[in-house]
Amino acid sequence: MLTDRHESNQRFKKHNRFLEESLMQEAGSAGAVGKKLVRVLTGKHEAVPPVWLMRQAGRYLPEYRALRQQAGGFLDLCLNPELAAEVTLQPVRRFGFDAAILFSDILIVPLALGRKVEFLAGEGPKLEPLVDAAGLAALRDSLDERVVAPVYETVRLVKGRLGNSTALIGFCGAPWTVATYMVAGEGTSDQAPARKFAYYDAEDFQRLIDRLAQASIEYLTAQLRAGADVVQVFDTWAGVLSPEQFYRWCVAPTQKIVEGVRKAIPGAKVIGFPRGATAMALPYVEMTGVSAIGVDWTFPRMIAREILQRRVPVQGNVDPLALLAGGPALDREVDDVMKELGGGPLIFNLGHGILPETPIANVERMLKRVRG
Ligand code: CP3
Repeated sequence: MLTDRHESNQRFKKHNRFLEESLMQEAGSAGAVGKKLVRVLTGKHEAVPPVWLMRQAGRYLPEYRALRQQAGGFLDLCLNPELAAEVTLQPVRRFGFDAAILFSDILIVPLALGRKVEFLAGEGPKLEPLVDAAGLAALRDSLDERVVAPVYETVRLVKGRLGNSTALIGFCGAPWTVATYMVAGEGTSDQAPARKFAYYDAEDFQRLIDRLAQASIEYLTAQLRAGADVVQVFDTWAGVLSPEQFYRWCVAPTQKIVEGVRKAIPGAKVIGFPRGATAMALPYVEMTGVSAIGVDWTFPRMIAREILQRRVPVQGNVDPLALLAGGPALDREVDDVMKELGGGPLIFNLGHGILPETPIANVERMLKRVRG
């Protein structure tokens, strides 16, 4: 066990040296050494950690709500590079976050694979459910350029408008999480439709996951080439699977994505966010090769420090409801993240997306407390 840990630490250090060297090479052209988030992703400790928030562009911002009305539908907004770039930049301008996250959605990938995707006001996403081999056969072989080209254009626009010290994060949904929406045709509380599909017909489900992993490699690589500094893989529903299923549907495809992206772009930085997969977080880190792991607020911070942060930087993990509540409850939560995780490489964030009802004053209060 001790030797295992020693070896893994050595591997992590070697990986960091490699990343640092590639960063130095990049530095002249891209100015990447100026980005706190990128420095932390090479394993560096920052006394004041970089901060960004999952879903930081969105309905809690009045400027977002105004622009959203102007754009028409949510997908129209995602696929309009000028407007999407503006929405991406809004929270960075207002709060001075250390990173911008591309304004888009994980369901752009199913749309670009030829599925019908709609966002109905107040109801969330609606897709044409993929329930059989015929649905699988109808998937496109590669991403529809008409759908993804505006996304890459958004990345280029944002990149050109961000200062040298703010990182740009691209993203996709992990195959498992995207599959839960594709199979059910909507969000579900227990992801039962996808889990049943995987039990009844593991072979076809594997085909769907493989297809999504391949598409994700293509999608993330193009975002990095368009100017993203880092990409995040959102596995929002990773926590509902048994250990055996977690290896097959979350770890293996994520490992394939990390490898595929790094084959195209050596040293590419990938943050994994397997939400709710607490007991499986260590094998996830060791087997997928992610550069950092995002943890949700149920993850014990002491364990995140002792088990995960020795290997990779940790991102998280304020409870979004504590941010919504504000006051001393929020202060305690912020202080605890800093006390437990602030001594090592940390990307300060929430444990899941910011809630639309969150008061802006609470975000300001949190930032002030983190930055001192
Ligand atoms: O983080 C950001 O600010 C970038 C943009 C972003 C959105 N969705 C915008 C969005 C990101 C990174 C996502 C990821 C996403 N989308 C996930 C994974 C992360 C998570 O939150 O768990 C998932 C599961 C989705 C799918 C999705 N998109 C759902 C279930 C919904 C409806 C529920 C909701 O939050 O509204 C969306 C819609 C959505 N995606 C909105 C935004 C700003 C709201 C749309 C609106 O303006 O009406």
